[in-house]
Amino acid sequence: LSKIEIKLSDIPEGKNMTFKWRGKPLFVRHRTEKEIATEAGVNLAELRDPQHDKERVQNPSWVIVLGVCTHLGCVPIANAGDFGGYYCPCHGSHYDASGRIRKGPAPLNLEVPYYEFPDDSTVVVG
Ligand code: FES
Repeated sequence: LSKIEIKLSDIPEGKNMTFKWRGKPLFVRHRTEKEIATEAGVNLAELRDPQHDKERVQNPSWVIVLGVCTHLGCVPIANAGDFGGYYCPCHGSHYDASGRIRKGPAPLNLEVPYYEFPDDSTVVVG
């Protein structure tokens, strides 16, 4: 199936859930107010792959990214690492709660797939 529909009410605030989409892990993260504020305030000059949080999310509460480390493709662990987003245990890449690479060998931010919110409680990816 090329598209996946996800019910957002199944994902509590502060949780990341992993789905399978086009053979890859897909992360859907319901961010807390604190995470939203932290990521909006990051100085782009500190980033290896500079992208404002606004360029990565359509709704600040929801981060939707591929769960594929941009180093060599391992699946990062949610809510881990030095930046509170994701941590890839294979070689130690740390991502923030916008999925941006912050430390370790990965060169790029976690990829944001195409997605839409048909209504307030649903996201369709693909
Ligand atoms: Fe993630 Fe190497 S594959 S750090």
